[in-house]
Amino acid sequence: METYIGDINMKTEIIKVNPNNIDISRVKKAARVIKGGGLVAFPTETVYGLGADALNDKAVAKIFEAKKRPLGDPLIVHISKKEDLFKLAKEISNTAMELIGKFWPGPLTVVLKKSDIVPYIVTAGLDTVAIRMPANQIALTLIKEAQTPISAPSANLFGRPSPTTSQHVLDDLEGKVDLIIDGGKTDIGLESTVLDLTQDVPSVLRPGGVSMEKLQGVIKTIHLFKSQDKIFSPGMYPRHYSPKAKVILIDENDRIEVEKVRKLAYDFILQGYSVGIIAKEENKEKYSEFNVKSLGPGDDLIKCAANLFSILRDFDRFSVDVIISESVKEEELGLAIMDRLRKAAG
Ligand code: TXA
Ligand code: MG
Repeated sequence: METYIGDINMKTEIIKVNPNNIDISRVKKAARVIKGGGLVAFPTETVYGLGADALNDKAVAKIFEAKKRPLGDPLIVHISKKEDLFKLAKEISNTAMELIGKFWPGPLTVVLKKSDIVPYIVTAGLDTVAIRMPANQIALTLIKEAQTPISAPSANLFGRPSPTTSQHVLDDLEGKVDLIIDGGKTDIGLESTVLDLTQDVPSVLRPGGVSMEKLQGVIKTIHLFKSQDKIFSPGMYPRHYSPKAKVILIDENDRIEVEKVRKLAYDFILQGYSVGIIAKEENKEKYSEFNVKSLGPGDDLIKCAANLFSILRDFDRFSVDVIISESVKEEELGLAIMDRLRKAAG
């Protein structure tokens, strides 16, 4: 997986922008960096993105270089108004229009046939392009001021958990990105749902911020991509979102879950490993003798989603060897949470 281009080293500037009172001159500065072919990390409602001018293939190449991302993994193009979809994509169905009407701006990425202006480096050589309009004022202002669509993957090193704060971005990409806009902690904390609309049956390639249940309110039949399916999205690597520690997911949300987690934790500790436990809030005290972090109440999946990636990164800072995680129920955002935990577990 060494198809990136090399190493770079630059000074990374950080500018703070208050999402509730945007200082436009600061965002304009970031927009000039994008226009000039540079890299800007910026907050979206899901996670921080690592942005470049999507129509400038040299600028886009820097994204792959900075992240050490394989060139075969396509990027999402971010737009600031729905009409821009028509410049970037073609054969846009009524279903696509309906979904966009309902979920944009927001954490839904649609995959459609690409138009000629989208460079192949963005789509990893595919004739389809992934597009979304984020629901974050800083992101929208940046795209608008840059006067160009912005291609942006999550602003982490390839394979690591996505960043939900500017500090996470700095930890992974200092010296590799020109500028980071610090707009505070992201709201959702998990990436967008990627929905392929180029097949007969719409297919969720990656569960995310817009749940299956919500999508089914608009389209009845949706296919959910499973890891055993033929991989037609190059980015659907089985092992991803990984902290440095080994992750073990106790993939059952049942009465003996706590017992299993405790037993495994003791097994590893007796072998001399340091262990971190991710527990639902209601179970946390049952692990009081361990290094335990609460994901959030098991019935508050929104909170659990928001905490997941920063917990994985926190355990890295503690140099934990093994992370043992409880499960959450696989409905609404829980589907995306379990997807990320399974991929972290590899
Ligand atoms: O919430 C998000 O989606 C964040 C923020 C920054 O917008 N972005 C993000 O990007 O998570 P990234 O690159 O980490 O994930 C994009 C996913 C990858 O799994 C990629 O393979 C898939 O979307 N993708 C992109 N273009 C595609 C295409 N043309 N066909 C199929 N899958 C595609
Ligand atoms: Mg990513």
